[in-house]
Amino acid sequence: MKVAQTLVTLAARTRLPSELAIISNNNATNHGVAVSHATIQPVWVRITHWINALAVVLMVMSGWQVYNASPIFPALTFPPAITLGGWLGGALLWHFAVMWLLVANFLVYLGLNFASGRFTRKLLPLSIKSLTSDVVAALRGKLTHGDLSRYNAIQKLAYLVVIADIALLVLSGLAVWKSVQFPLLRALMGGYDNARVVHFVAMSVLVTFFFVHVVMVALVPRSLLLMIRGR
Ligand code: HEM
Repeated sequence: MKVAQTLVTLAARTRLPSELAIISNNNATNHGVAVSHATIQPVWVRITHWINALAVVLMVMSGWQVYNASPIFPALTFPPAITLGGWLGGALLWHFAVMWLLVANFLVYLGLNFASGRFTRKLLPLSIKSLTSDVVAALRGKLTHGDLSRYNAIQKLAYLVVIADIALLVLSGLAVWKSVQFPLLRALMGGYDNARVVHFVAMSVLVTFFFVHVVMVALVPRSLLLMIRGR
């Protein structure tokens, strides 16, 4: 309880000064690329983001090894070089160990985002109108990244989708792992066999996000700096 309170205080503290500095900075640069000396990504976002990235990679690679032991689609198996664990037992050990890290870290990320109000500020609102205009701008090559303290509508959608996708991965994984103990969850996933398909499809969405995300970051390298040092 005390740890949670400390984390919430930390989240609240990292919010206001950075926002004020960003506002004054944007005024100073007057529509130019915002080269800010303020913290744009609070330390807890950076820490949870990188733990999440590591956990997701380990979960996906060990998951592929588990999948290979009993493929849902027999024509599709994953090359051993991109799997983790060596064999079914080893992969399950990785999968069951890292899932605690993934879930705990995900809950801290979500909890602090909601408690500090950052979730609403950074990822909402998201409207069809803003999305359409940003997609049109992107297709015309005119979507600017001048102000790195804000996400455009496409980023907001991508981040909201991947957050929901990770939640679905955890729930469908739980339905497969503890199918007997969670009959309602199993039923919601359409039964045990379907829960495996849901888990696989959610993994595919996550892997697709990963590659698009990394390409987008490579196109705007300063955003990577923000996610490492905060400004
Ligand atoms: C599958 C693994 C990953 C997931 C699920 C993921 C997810 C996310 C999410 C949800 C955000 C928004 C965070 C927020 O503001 O609350 C974000 C931002 C970001 N991520 Fe990732 N990420 C992953 C891997 C990576 C990797 C490998 C890199 C580096 C190459 C990276 C670089 C970044 C950067 C630079 C931002 C900030 C973007 C910006 O300010 O425009 N991420 N990521």
